[in-house]
Amino acid sequence: MKRRIPAASAAHFIHPDYVDPSFSEAVITWQKQHGRHHLPWQQSREAYRVWLSEIMLQQTQVTAVIPYYEKFLNSFPTVFDLAAASSESVMAHWSGLGYYTRARNLHQCAKKVVELYQGHFPADPLLLEQLPGIGRSTAAAITAFSYGTNAAILDGNVKRVFARVFGIAGYPGSKPVEDDLWQRAMALLPEQGIEAYTQGLMDLGATLCTRSSPSCLRCPLQARCVAHAENRTAELPTRKPKKQIKEKQAVMLVLIHQGQVLLERRPDRGIWGGLLSLPEMAGMTALETDQAPDAIDAQALHTMIDQFGVPGEQRLLPDIEHVFTHFKLHIRAVLVALTQLHSHPVDDRYVWMPLSGMAEAALPAPIKTLLLSL
Ligand code: ADE
Ligand code: SF4
Repeated sequence: MKRRIPAASAAHFIHPDYVDPSFSEAVITWQKQHGRHHLPWQQSREAYRVWLSEIMLQQTQVTAVIPYYEKFLNSFPTVFDLAAASSESVMAHWSGLGYYTRARNLHQCAKKVVELYQGHFPADPLLLEQLPGIGRSTAAAITAFSYGTNAAILDGNVKRVFARVFGIAGYPGSKPVEDDLWQRAMALLPEQGIEAYTQGLMDLGATLCTRSSPSCLRCPLQARCVAHAENRTAELPTRKPKKQIKEKQAVMLVLIHQGQVLLERRPDRGIWGGLLSLPEMAGMTALETDQAPDAIDAQALHTMIDQFGVPGEQRLLPDIEHVFTHFKLHIRAVLVALTQLHSHPVDDRYVWMPLSGMAEAALPAPIKTLLLSL
């Protein structure tokens, strides 16, 4: 079978308008004077060490990584040692660092590097990117630091620096913004000094251009920084849009008669399928976000109660909110004590159960909580 050739991605195109050699010069000069030079993984260009540190640093701060990095190198001094280790041992070494998929991928990656590349990490970022746990930015960082390959990084810190310097609004994780940032990252690569440049971008993002309080006065990019000039560092980069979750309202009845409560078996399909729950008035209604729950339709309430018996004391219970994956449900419940039951049979999906048995009943959690609080 022929391999499909992927269409050239917008993110791999170098936009001539974005080229500006003075950008990398500023970063490199600053890195040499003010950047970090004594991190443990900066003491060697060995790809195994660089790779190990970059994987650990993907989602973890430098200070947390250092002891783990040293422990790993002690136990697994080469990629062959790591590849030959048991997964229990690798996981035990990673224990406490979090995001454990990284550890599983790390182990798989070590095995592949041994198997496919005789233990030598490739110097081509496109090959590295094929390996488990290595994305485009990590591949570029590893090859830049180990082999001096001129490849662009774009991790969260670098996205923040670029979004601010160039005044790019829009969530940097969205496809169009990310493509634009990659084009800039590639166009701004230096002709020389990729190691200091790459480290400089990381250092700027981590030590000066921090999320909540950037030190613009000490920043080598200040004179060209749109966010600084326009006082927009608080709003750039644009935060991830919150998922609009739908809100619905249900009005439920708590009918009580002689220590028993009326429950309704829910249809097998849909939320709480097959569980017992409180009888609901006319299904759920959609609410606009932030709309207060609707008042209860007194007429409909009366008609509903009237199916079962003669109402005595009634009171509105405190509203309950329950969050599902796709929506938030506001439950408004009315407690009604029936003084008398009608003798005609009701639908067999309804059952009377003693209030004292609610802890064991097959009820959804919020309904159980409500009934137990009575
Ligand atoms: N974060 C990701 N890679 C890093 C590195 N090489 N040095 C410091 N922080 C980093
Ligand atoms: Fe970040 Fe401030 Fe530097 Fe702009 S001037 S890149 S906001 S630290």
